[in-house]
Amino acid sequence: MLNPKIEDAFNGQLNAELYSSYLYLSMSAYFESQNLAGMANWMRVQAQEELGHAMKFFDFINERGGRVTLTQLEAPKTQWAYPLDAFQDAYEHECKVTGLINGLVDLAIGEKDHAANTFLQWFVTEQVEEESSVQTVVDKLKMIGDSGGAVFMLDGELGQRTLPPAAE
Ligand code: FEO
Repeated sequence: MLNPKIEDAFNGQLNAELYSSYLYLSMSAYFESQNLAGMANWMRVQAQEELGHAMKFFDFINERGGRVTLTQLEAPKTQWAYPLDAFQDAYEHECKVTGLINGLVDLAIGEKDHAANTFLQWFVTEQVEEESSVQTVVDKLKMIGDSGGAVFMLDGELGQRTLPPAAE
């Protein structure tokens, strides 16, 4: 039986992960509109990873005898001024998600739900990776500045990203 407070909070995080997927898909659409296919690919893979995160919460809630309730998703932003603007938004979003995960860990500890706490530790580790991978792109875009040739090179590099088998 899942503690109702954990059930509510995990359903909230399920919505947040789905929103993350929606946001990154919107960024992918923006990059497609800019003819930056590599960045569009990077964001599309990110959107798929977020869907995987959402499904982890979906499965955990069900396995613990809770009830998954899906709620309305906020409409994501659809336009950015330039590539760095979008990746900076993505970085800030990941920092926000890290805060949400930390809040869930605090709740799980407070409620003495050890299984929930153990489950969340995967996300604690994942958020370190999530922030770092976006930060790397932000740093590169800052270095590149207005150099069109370098943006083209980075776009090619980001086009190589594929979904890890575990996230499929
Ligand atoms: Fe699901 Fe990017 O955190």
